[in-house]
Amino acid sequence: MEHQLVTVIDFGGQYNQLIVRRARELGCYSEMVAWQNAAEHIKTRKPAAVILSGGPRSVLEQNAPTLDFSLLEGIPVLGICYGQQLMAHNLGGQVSPSNEREYGRRHLSAMVPGSQVAELQNDLVWMSHGDQVEKVPPGFKVTATTESCPVAAMENVADRRYGVQFHPEVSHTPDGRAILRHFLLQVAQLRADWTAENFIEESIARIREEVGSGKVLCAVSGGVDSSVVAALLSEAIGDQTTCVFVDHGLLRKGEAEQVHRMFTEVFHPHLVVIQAHDQFFSALKGVTDPEAKRKIIGENFVICFERNRAELQDHDFLAQGTLYPDVIESGSPTASKIKTHHNVGGLPDWMRLKVIEPMRWLFKDEVREVGRKLGLPSEVVDREPFPGPGLGVRILGEVTPERVKITQDADWIFREEIRRNGLHPGIWQSYAALLDVRSVGVMGDERTYEQPIVLRAVQSEDAMTAQAFPFDFGFLEHVANRIVNEVKGVNRVLYDLTSKPPATIEWE
Ligand code: XMP
Repeated sequence: MEHQLVTVIDFGGQYNQLIVRRARELGCYSEMVAWQNAAEHIKTRKPAAVILSGGPRSVLEQNAPTLDFSLLEGIPVLGICYGQQLMAHNLGGQVSPSNEREYGRRHLSAMVPGSQVAELQNDLVWMSHGDQVEKVPPGFKVTATTESCPVAAMENVADRRYGVQFHPEVSHTPDGRAILRHFLLQVAQLRADWTAENFIEESIARIREEVGSGKVLCAVSGGVDSSVVAALLSEAIGDQTTCVFVDHGLLRKGEAEQVHRMFTEVFHPHLVVIQAHDQFFSALKGVTDPEAKRKIIGENFVICFERNRAELQDHDFLAQGTLYPDVIESGSPTASKIKTHHNVGGLPDWMRLKVIEPMRWLFKDEVREVGRKLGLPSEVVDREPFPGPGLGVRILGEVTPERVKITQDADWIFREEIRRNGLHPGIWQSYAALLDVRSVGVMGDERTYEQPIVLRAVQSEDAMTAQAFPFDFGFLEHVANRIVNEVKGVNRVLYDLTSKPPATIEWE
C-alpha cells in the first residue's frame, strides 16, 4: 500500500519529532526531512501535506533556514512557530523581533468560529518563541490571539495555508491534536491508513521481496526492538531466519538466561548463543573513553559473527532493529552528532552480509504496538530500552568483570524495588551506573575508600527528552541502604535529578 506522506520540514526545533509522531498517531504516515534537503525531498517524494516545524533561529537573520514556497504549490501547509513566521515572511506578511521571549502556557482568545482553532476543546496552548508575526500575508486572516501575541493562529483557507504560533504537538497544549487532526484529516483529507496491522502486512511483503529465498541472521538482545524484528522475520520467512545472541557479559543480572528462555519458549527460531565475555573484556581492557568503548563493542559484535562463521556462513542478510529516531539522529545535517549509535550503519565489506532494517520507519511506541499485534508477551513488549553497548556505557571508566558485577547487583536491587513498589509503569528507563571516582566512607569501625553508584530513572515519551522520576525520599533512602549494605565495593549512592536536555539518559 502506498501511504500518503506527511512531510515535516525540520528547522531545528526541539519538539519536531513529536510532530511526526502525532501525525502518525492520527493514522497519517509522516517523515521528517532537514530543511536543507527539503526541496529535493518534495520534488521526489511528492508529500500530500507539509508541516513546517519550529526552530531556534529568526527568519529576520541573514542566512536563516528557509524554503522555496513555490515548491509547495497545491500542497496543504501548516506552519508551527518558526514555520508560521517563515510562511508569513515569505508570503508578504510581516514578522517582528520581540523584546522578550514568550514562554509557557497561554490562553487563546478571539478564536474565530469555523477556523482551525475552533476545534480546540481547551484554549490553553504552549508558547515558546521570540519573534512573532505582526501582520498576516494577503489572503490570510488572524484566527486567534493571546494577550501578548497578535497572531497566535492564522489561515488562508483557499490556498490551504495554516499557521500557529504555539506548539500543538506537545502535551502542554492539552488539545493540540485537534489542530493536527483538522489540518491532516479535514484540510488535506488524508486517508488514515497508518496502522500497526498495515505495517505488519507491508513489512512481511517487503521482507519476502527483499530476502527471496535468502537466509537472514537476526542479532537479538532480548530487547523489544530485536525481539519484534525476530517475530516479524518469523512471520515473513519462518526458518530462513537464524537468531544470534551475543552474550558479551555486559547485560543486566539474569538477563542472558532470560533471553535464552524467551527465545526457546516463545519464538522457537533457530537460536545460536555466542559466549563472548572474555573477548569483550579483553578488548575493553584499559579503555575509558565512552565513544572508544562503543566502537570496540560494535566491532566485537562483528568479530563474534566472523568467529562463528562456520555456523553462520551461509546467510545473506543481517537484520537489525534500527528505529526511525536512530535514522534521524545519525543522518540529519541539523542534528549535531551527540552519540554514535552502533546499530546504525553498514557492516564491513568482508562480512558480505546485506543489512535489512525492517523497523527503520518506526518510533518506539509503534514498535511496541506492532509487537503486541504480533502476539509477543508483555514482558517483552513493555520492556525498558537498553543500550546495545549495555553496561559498557553505564560503567564509567574501565569495564572489568568486577565492576560489571557491582553494577549488576546494584542495578538489580534498584529495579527490584521499583517493581515491588509498582512504580514500573511510569518509568521509561531505570538503572544503576558506576562512577569512576572514589570517596571516603565509614563502615563499622573502618574507613572505606570506594566507588559511588548513581541511580537514574526517567520519565520520557521517546528518549529525546526526559525528566527524572520523582521518587519519594523514603524509597530512595531504602534503595541506597540496601545497595551499600548488599553490594561490596560501593559506599555511596546518588540519585541523578537532571533532565534531558541538558543531560542525556545514559551517563556515557
Ligand atoms: P541518551 O543517553 O542519548 O539515550 O539520552 C537515548 C536512548 O538511547 C539509548 N542509547 C543507546 N542505544 N546504543 C543503543 O542501542 C547506544 O550506544 C546507545 N546510547 C544510548 C538510551 O538507553 C536511551 O534509551
